[in-house]
Amino acid sequence: MNTLHLTSAQEDIARASDLLKSGGLVAFPTETVYGLGANALDEAAVQGIFRAKGRPGDNPLIVHIWDKAQLEQLVVSIPANAKALMDAFWPGPLTIVMKKSPLVPDCVSANLDTVGVRMPQHPVAYDLLRACNLPIAAPSANRSGRPSPTIAAHVAEDLEGRIDAIVDGGSCCVGVESTVVDATGEHLRLLRPGGITYEQLVAVVGRVERKDTYEEGTTPASPGMKYTHYSPNATVYVVRGDFEKAVLSHANPNQKVGILCHGDFSLPPTFVLRHMGATPEQYANTLFAHLRAFDKDGVDVIYVQDVGQTGLNDAVRNRLYKSAGYQIIGE
Ligand code: TXA
Ligand code: MG
Repeated sequence: MNTLHLTSAQEDIARASDLLKSGGLVAFPTETVYGLGANALDEAAVQGIFRAKGRPGDNPLIVHIWDKAQLEQLVVSIPANAKALMDAFWPGPLTIVMKKSPLVPDCVSANLDTVGVRMPQHPVAYDLLRACNLPIAAPSANRSGRPSPTIAAHVAEDLEGRIDAIVDGGSCCVGVESTVVDATGEHLRLLRPGGITYEQLVAVVGRVERKDTYEEGTTPASPGMKYTHYSPNATVYVVRGDFEKAVLSHANPNQKVGILCHGDFSLPPTFVLRHMGATPEQYANTLFAHLRAFDKDGVDVIYVQDVGQTGLNDAVRNRLYKSAGYQIIGE
């Protein structure tokens, strides 16, 4: 398949919209990461997403809308706390899981009786969703297991020749995916920390149960939790405590070492050093691009300095731990 490279100009959006209407697969930017979109109501198109990504069929997709009126065909009811969250954070990086309508094909929700919906806040996503006026199922536009794409070139790296088009809208400003919450129960449940923080959720709904960690052998609150994620080719370790000391005692002289940190350290010049930036917003914004860049450098191992857990660091930390497969050293 020949992948079209499109811009955000009006005629290109119209082309991308036509492709979506005719069952095609189109990658497009959102404020979090690039998504790989297909008409959520077209089962064959949605199956194409799973094939192109190599995604396990039991991991449900998020449905993207531009207008709240579209909710009518997607969910059976809107719980009060979901409504409050939509008013507070839509459009924005928040996905809300609700009871699904029978119109939503089972492959979108991976046979669950719920569907996750989000209204992105990105002008290009908005233009495209509005032009096609369809609910668009879209996971992150990476090959399954790889770091999520934050620029169009990352999408091409993973999916060139496997999808119909990529709409280039520059780099994504948040850089980590949306927060996923389940609004079907009495209390809101946090399934994945993301662009909207735990503290922001609590400020709106009062009580939030954390369900964003997964124990081997149990049923995860969100199917995506049990899979390897955000993994570059190198082995990743999260380092706690004294970074310099832990890295120097762990590093193997025969391996090419990558360092991702937010502090200043004196490490051997042979190490490939990447700086995460100075604020949690910058950590989030650069994380996935750094992980992909380490692959280009051909490092064997990456040591990542741990971050805190408040605000946006919560989402950054979640991605770091997953990319490391929970391998933690130091302290
Ligand atoms: O920011 C984002 O959310 C990006 C952009 C493209 O919108 N999308 C994204 O999709 O990150 P994906 O498929 O990579 O991650 C969706 C996560 C998965 O962990 C999945 O298991 C969970 O959301 N999820 C989706 N629908 C769900 C449902 N009905 N119940 C529980 N978890 C659900
Ligand atoms: Mg993903």
